[in-house]
Formats: sequence, C-alpha cells, structure tokens
Amino acid sequence: MYYPDSKLPKVGTTIFSVMSQLAAQHNAINLSQGFPDFEGPEQLRKRVAYHIGHKANQYAPMTGVQPLREAIAEKAKRLYGANVCADEEVTVTSGATEAIFAAISAVVRQGDEVIVFDPCYDCYEPAIELNGGICRHISLTLPEFTIDWQALKEALTPRTRMIIVNTPHNPSGVTLSRQDLDKLAELVRDTHILLLGDEVYEHIVFDQQPHCSLLTHSELAARSFVVSSFGKTYHTTGWKVGYCIAPKPLSVELRKVHQYLTFSTAAPFQLAIADYMLHHPEYTGELPGFYQEKRDLFCQVIERSRFSFTPAKGTYFQLVDYSAISDMDDVSFSRWLTTEKGVAAIPVSVFCQNPDPDMRLVRFCFAKNEKTLREAGELLCQL
Ligand SMILES: Cc1ncc(COP(=O)(O)O)c(C=O)c1O
Repeated sequence: MYYPDSKLPKVGTTIFSVMSQLAAQHNAINLSQGFPDFEGPEQLRKRVAYHIGHKANQYAPMTGVQPLREAIAEKAKRLYGANVCADEEVTVTSGATEAIFAAISAVVRQGDEVIVFDPCYDCYEPAIELNGGICRHISLTLPEFTIDWQALKEALTPRTRMIIVNTPHNPSGVTLSRQDLDKLAELVRDTHILLLGDEVYEHIVFDQQPHCSLLTHSELAARSFVVSSFGKTYHTTGWKVGYCIAPKPLSVELRKVHQYLTFSTAAPFQLAIADYMLHHPEYTGELPGFYQEKRDLFCQVIERSRFSFTPAKGTYFQLVDYSAISDMDDVSFSRWLTTEKGVAAIPVSVFCQNPDPDMRLVRFCFAKNEKTLREAGELLCQL
C-alpha cells in the first residue's frame, strides 16, 4: 500500500497534549495546558441538561441558533459599539479553532502570505499551509512582546492576504492598545489585506484595562474576522463552542467552509449559552475580577521564588523567566520541572518558528483553584 507524504510534515502531537500526559504520568500539578480545574456557572450547565431534555437534539441551523447569534450581536454592540447583523455577520462554530480554520480557508489561496506574530498560538500555521498559503513569522519584541511595526511594514508584500493578531495574547498575556490598532490601520489602509482577530480571551483583561477588540475600530472591523470562544469565557473548554463576527461578504465565504467542515455546532450548548447570556449580561463584567484574583494569588505565591515575571495583562497565563534557576533550554526545563519537581509548564519556544536560544521563559496556566495554585507555588518556591 502506498501512503502519501504528509501534508503537514512539521506537525506532531501538540506540546499541550505532551505536557498534560507527562503531568499525569508523574502526578505533577498541571499548570501547562490552558483549561480551568473548576466548573462553569451551574445555571449554564443546568440549561444544557434542560435543552437536552426538551428536544434540542437535532442539527442546529448551519449559522448558529438565532437567540445565540442575537446575543452575540447585542454583546458586540454593548461592549464594542459595533453594529453587527446577527443574521448575516455572526456565525457560531465548533470552538474558536474551527472559526480560525474556516476564516483562513475561506480567503487564503495558493501562494498567499499570512503574517503571524511569534510566539503564536499553534493552530494558525497548519490551516495556512493546508490552504497552500505561506506563513510569515514576525517576532514580537521582548521583554514586552510588542509588535515591531517597522518589521511588519517591511514584511508586507503584494501577496500578503492576511495578518493574524491575538489579543489578549497567548502565551504572553499582553494586550493590544488603541494606539496599536491605529498603527495597524495605517499599515493596511489602501491594501486588500484582511485581518483575523483571535480574541478568545476578550473577557479576561486585568487592571481596569479595556479589551481593544478589532470590533471597536470600524476601519479595521470592515476587513476583519473576529473570533472568540465560549470555552474561555464560561470555563467550558470541552464544549467547543465559539463564533466568528465578520462583514457580510467575509461571513458568506466563511459559512461556505463551515457548512462543509462541521455544518453546525451542538444545539443544546448553543441554546444554553444563549439563555445564560440573556439572563446574565453581568457575567462578562465580573470575569476580569475573578481571574485577576487568581493572577494576583499566583503572582503572590511565586513572589519569593527565583522566577522573575511581569504580571499578565490578560488571559489566564503567566509567563515567567527561570534564568536565575537554570540555564537549560525551555523544553528541557519544562520536562524537568514536570518529572522531577511536580509542576507542569509549557515552554515558550514551541510557539516560535526561530526561537531565541537564550530565551528562558515558560508559561503557567493560573485558571486553577486556590489550593492548586498554592500547592504549585510552594513547589516553585523551592527551586
Ligand atoms: C489564542 C487561542 N486561540 C484559539 C484557541 C482555541 O479555542 P477553542 O478551544 O474555542 O477552539 C485557544 C485555546 O487555547 C487559544 O489560546
């Protein structure tokens, strides 16, 4: 039997699965993969059971159930001042991952270039490559993980189809400002470049900072796919429900892909989320405080350790520099930390095409119970 060469020869098992498995094998506290170790709101979970018990068990409409699309459009108006048409510009997807894949597949053709900023989330590049596109990596400038605007300007070519921005940013926890959006607008003005805003942590932003969504910037919104994930917002990563907001011509194309990728997303989850959004609009306003407490607790419990760090501005990840503890590379350090010291972390180099060999950074997820964070902190302070 002849098996064809891999279309994704560089892709192996993701580091998230590898580290979680290693953590389980060695009974380590798992601060590696990004998921909460607590449940989402009880009312929300009850609504899923309710809808399963009340005949919501067949295909949902392809674009998403009407009440959920309306709730998403209402939220975009309330939080970002964006006028979004629930019928034509909102599509519910099976997680943000599907929305990202569908957006890229909808517009990227053979030879098109797509710009991503390293360190970057791992699902962009395979989607670009499967569509025949070329992924151009630009490194964010450390230590603050800012965009090098000059480098971005120089990277733009007539073949640049799309720029992917992720704010709040995984793994650095850094957020884009209004000024950043203005600079981006300046660079793409008078081009046909599209934007993909990965905003899955839109409601996890700290220190009273606003989330500067691409939707707040009408010039950018007109050329953007903006993607979010209910998994992050409601502590329900296993449900895999997300969405994409995009102007009608982009949504039409995205929906053509979505229609044949999954067709539609699990109906009871969609209906439950719609109910919850309608009855608990205050929830998203409370989420920053909820996670800020966890960030502050984690930073406090590792304060007397030899890690150095700047508290994350958003997301539920904290980057730490371990150069005072070890000069191992970050993959070896993460393995050692997991297998020998009992705390699992994610090395940052895996998010980069050309990692700086001197970078000594790992990512911890603080979406964990107080007890878990304190126990991890104890171990980390012993290093
Ligand atoms: C930056 C970023 N984008 C997208 C996703 C995928 O979201 P979902 O689980 O809804 O597919 C994640 C999940 O970790 C993420 O961190």
